[in-house]
Amino acid sequence: MRGILDAFPRMGIAHLPTPLHPLNNLSQHLGGPRIWVKRDDLTGLGTGGNKLRKIDYALRDVLDAGADCVVSGGVVQSNSARQVAAACAAAGIPCHLAVFEGRVEAGSERYYTSGNALLSDLFGATKHPMPWSSDPNQALKTIASRLRADGFDPAILPYGVSSPMGAIGYATLIAEIGEQMDRAPAAIIFASGSGGTHAGIAMGCQIGLQQTQAIGFDIDAQPDRVRQDTAAIMLAAGKRLGWIFDLDAIDLRSGMAGPSYGVPHEKCLEAMRLAGRLEGLVLDPTYSAKSLAGLISLVMDGTFDKADDIVFVHTGGDAAIFAYEPSQLGLMG
Ligand SMILES: Cc1ncc(COP(=O)(O)O)c(C=O)c1O
Repeated sequence: MRGILDAFPRMGIAHLPTPLHPLNNLSQHLGGPRIWVKRDDLTGLGTGGNKLRKIDYALRDVLDAGADCVVSGGVVQSNSARQVAAACAAAGIPCHLAVFEGRVEAGSERYYTSGNALLSDLFGATKHPMPWSSDPNQALKTIASRLRADGFDPAILPYGVSSPMGAIGYATLIAEIGEQMDRAPAAIIFASGSGGTHAGIAMGCQIGLQQTQAIGFDIDAQPDRVRQDTAAIMLAAGKRLGWIFDLDAIDLRSGMAGPSYGVPHEKCLEAMRLAGRLEGLVLDPTYSAKSLAGLISLVMDGTFDKADDIVFVHTGGDAAIFAYEPSQLGLMG
């Protein structure tokens, strides 16, 4: 599997491999299988997160094609945009970010000034405010054509860095898990939104961990769209890898997104507080806490054997919690 993935050049900016360790207190508390956490929140640069694994490959790809600046984007508190900004800073290339307003209702002024919003400024990104639309990549194209008219040669890293190359980068997670564990886990569980993380994990499992179920939890409250995007990315990435993936095997679960993207709900906040209290683990209420809530629901349903190993992928998002009022997270009283 390494041979297949190493054929593609990467930046080398993500700190890999990320640690994998058991969550003994949480496993004991739930009384189910042995739960492990794969710490993709610890990919290093710019406070880390899952996108760096994708950016490592996707940015190399566009820079090798001759781009002189990068266009990407996300919501105001986008982890993805913050990681693109950090990677561009490290690569010494200008970064332009579409900042989508209107997808998430701000709970307080902190939403605009703290967490990822503050960090993207720190990393020197140029921000372009844009209204949210169901096709966010269109706005990135608009910014790129303006830059082209000004004489630049921009490359687009799409919303969520969910390109075929980004997904190939994410398949390295499975190579690492295969190297780090004595036996294949029964399941790997993670948050799924723009499709690249899910595509990478599903492709990696089909190539190298065939006994393992890759279970994504929709956090966008759009499971059909997430499944379609995941399939499209796997199809395109398969062409670059010379591999035909089984798209029917995509396992995307719904029911943990809550009312909509970015809106915390009780089970998600309970999971977030549990991870903090039992393991000192920082989850965020938009992504990782929703996927842990999904994992907990599967354990409660008796989906797994006690003897199973289950890997929870901590995809990051820690910075975003500082954009919330404590009361929004059910903390401090
Ligand atoms: C912390 C975190 N987890 C999970 C995801 C989902 O990844 P993907 O968009 O590749 O589905 C994201 C995407 O922004 C994220 O920021």
